Amino acid sequence: MKQPLCSGRTEAWRPCLPRPRRSRSVSTPPSTGSLACVGIGIMLGSHITPLARSHIENADVVFAAVSDGIVELWLKEMHADVRSLQPFYAEGKRRTQTYREMVEAILAEVRAGKRVCAVFYGHPGVFAWAPHRAIKVAREEGYTAYMEPGISSEDCLYADLGIDPGSVGCQHFDTTQYMLYRRQIDPSAWLILWQVGLAGERTGHRFATSPAHRQVLVDVLSRHYPLDHEVIVYRAATLPMQAPRMERMPLGRLPGADLDSADTLAVPPVQALVADAEVQAKLVALDAYQAAIA
Ligand SMILES: C[S@@+](CC[C@H](N)C(=O)[O-])C[C@H]1O[C@@H](n2cnc3c(N)ncnc32)[C@H](O)[C@@H]1O
Repeated sequence: MKQPLCSGRTEAWRPCLPRPRRSRSVSTPPSTGSLACVGIGIMLGSHITPLARSHIENADVVFAAVSDGIVELWLKEMHADVRSLQPFYAEGKRRTQTYREMVEAILAEVRAGKRVCAVFYGHPGVFAWAPHRAIKVAREEGYTAYMEPGISSEDCLYADLGIDPGSVGCQHFDTTQYMLYRRQIDPSAWLILWQVGLAGERTGHRFATSPAHRQVLVDVLSRHYPLDHEVIVYRAATLPMQAPRMERMPLGRLPGADLDSADTLAVPPVQALVADAEVQAKLVALDAYQAAIA
C-alpha cells in the first residue's frame, strides 16, 4: 500500500510513520485504529488537496458526508469501500441523533482497528459537529485522530463577494443561535449568518423553516440594520458549470426570498468604524515618549 503524504503536523497524526501506540493501562485495548477527518472543499473535483486525497486513497474504509450523490460517485473512484453517511438522516429524526449515529458508525471501524477516513464537504471543522466529536472521542480512547482542513464555503464567499475579513472585521454566527441569544454584534463589521435557510429552527428535526421564521430574523437584525439595508444571499457553486448565487436584496425582503439549506447570508457593515480617541491619544503619547528616549 502507498504511504499517505505527511502533513507536517506530526504531533497529531503521522500517517507516513509507523502508527504510534500510546502507553495504556492493562484494562484498555491497544489502539491500532486511526481516524482522519478530511475536507474536500466545495467545488466538485477541484478543491481537494493532495493530503486529503492521500488519506482517502490509503484508508481501509471511507465514510462520506458530502453535498450530493455525484460527489459520492467521485469518491468511489478513489476508494472501493466508500460508505455514505446520508442514510442516517431521516424525516422527523433529530439532527443530534443523526450526528451521534454518524460518529458511532465511524468510531466502530476505528475500534475494529481500521485506518478510517471520514470525508466531509467544505472544511470538516467549520460548522460541523460530527468530525470534531469523532476526533475527540477517538483521542480519548487512545486512537490517533487528525483533522485535515478543506476549502470552506466561507473561503468561497470571500473570493466570490470580494470580501477581505481583515478590512473591517467579519463576524460569523449560526443564524438560529444568533436569533435565540442576545449576541453582541458589531454593525461596523461584516456579519455572516450560516444556515439561514434554517433560521429559527428549534425542533432539531426540520430541514427548512418558513417566511414567518425569517421575519423573526429580520426583526432581530432590524435592531442594528434598517430594512432597506442591502443583504446578500450567497451560495457557492458546487459544480464546475454552475455560477455562485449572489442575490442582493433589501433586508426587509428576506422573508419572501427562496432559501436553500446551502445558503449563507452576508450582511455588509452599516456604520463606519468609530475611533477610540482615548486609546489613539495613548498610543500617540507612547510613540512620542519612545521617540524622545531613543
Ligand atoms: C453544516 S454547515 C457545513 C459547512 C461546511 N463545513 C463548510 O466548510 O462550508 C452548512 C452551512 O454551510 C453553508 N454552506 C454550505 N454549502 C454552501 C455553499 N455551497 N455556499 C454557501 N454556503 C454554504 C450554509 O450556511 C449552510 O447552511
